[in-house]
Amino acid sequence: MEEQIRMKERIEQLVSEIDSLKAASLEEVEQLRLKYLSKKGMVSVLFDDFKSVPAEMKRDVGQLLNDLKTRANQRIDSLKSSFDRGESVSKVNLDLTRPAGHIQPGSRHPLSVVRNRIIKIFDRIGFTVAEGPEIEDDLHNFSALNFTPDHPARDMQDTFFIATNPDILLRTHTSSVQIRTMETTNPPIRMIFPGRVFRNEAISARAHCIFHQVEGLYINKDVSFADLKQTLMYFAKEMFGEDTEIRLRPSYFPFTEPSGEMDVSCNICGGTGCNICKYTGWVEILGCGMVDPNTLEHCGIDPQVYTGFAFGMGIERITMLKYQVKDLRLFFENDVRFLRQFTGYSV
Ligand code: DAH
Repeated sequence: MEEQIRMKERIEQLVSEIDSLKAASLEEVEQLRLKYLSKKGMVSVLFDDFKSVPAEMKRDVGQLLNDLKTRANQRIDSLKSSFDRGESVSKVNLDLTRPAGHIQPGSRHPLSVVRNRIIKIFDRIGFTVAEGPEIEDDLHNFSALNFTPDHPARDMQDTFFIATNPDILLRTHTSSVQIRTMETTNPPIRMIFPGRVFRNEAISARAHCIFHQVEGLYINKDVSFADLKQTLMYFAKEMFGEDTEIRLRPSYFPFTEPSGEMDVSCNICGGTGCNICKYTGWVEILGCGMVDPNTLEHCGIDPQVYTGFAFGMGIERITMLKYQVKDLRLFFENDVRFLRQFTGYSV
């Protein structure tokens, strides 16, 4: 009995001693380990004495002894690991005062650069920006824009339809946003509509199934074709340079009457002829026209009171011309060797 009490006291004393152990270095931790846990260490010696504890007390005392050993091991381990961490820092020779490694600056995608530039150019003459849905219905993409039911643009070859509902499609142009705007806004309207459009085209150097357009719309009293021409000329000079010339050719779009296509003088060869302008000196960049009275009427705008013009351009085409990019696929591959060339084009 006396033996057991003595043993218990020694264990308790060791527990409190171990709990308050401190060390100033790894060497000191090792000395503590030897002192308590080596073969001749203080904890191990208690295990030797355990043999003489009477059988009926062995269970109690054994439990206390095991707890003590676990505790001692944990304490030594935690002291050791606090130095391990310090040691690994000094091993890699970390110098927090050294300058950081160089981080390559990112760059805007060229299509974003040009889209933002287009927005800025039109902003200066009072055009605001709006967007519309990429998933459209037949009404806004075709019918309200005066497309006849058998128009080839409605063909499955050109348009992505939803199989379960032929009324739903991926918009083929941003002209759909003209309709949405005129349905909800009273003139005067002076807006541009940038966005993604989709057509069922095989991917090549000149075509892609996803591309980008900017649509423009101006509706007011007494808007004339001269206003359209002046606006587009201003745009072309701002985008491609003061020397740029424009020419308008007659064309056909169901939602404008009259309709035109606009060419700019080729800014690659300066108009003398190259393979980009196919040796004509001119490059087509957009479609345009005076908004058809049927379209105005559909949107609840009185064509006897208001007139207006609209235009639509492909952002890829403008970007290719501006930065002499010869293959459309480069815009979608995201090869950093291509994209890096636009670092600093921050518009
Ligand atoms: N939506 C036409 C296209 O994708 C481009 C266009 C032509 C837009 C004439 C217009 C316009 O606003 O007046 O080919």
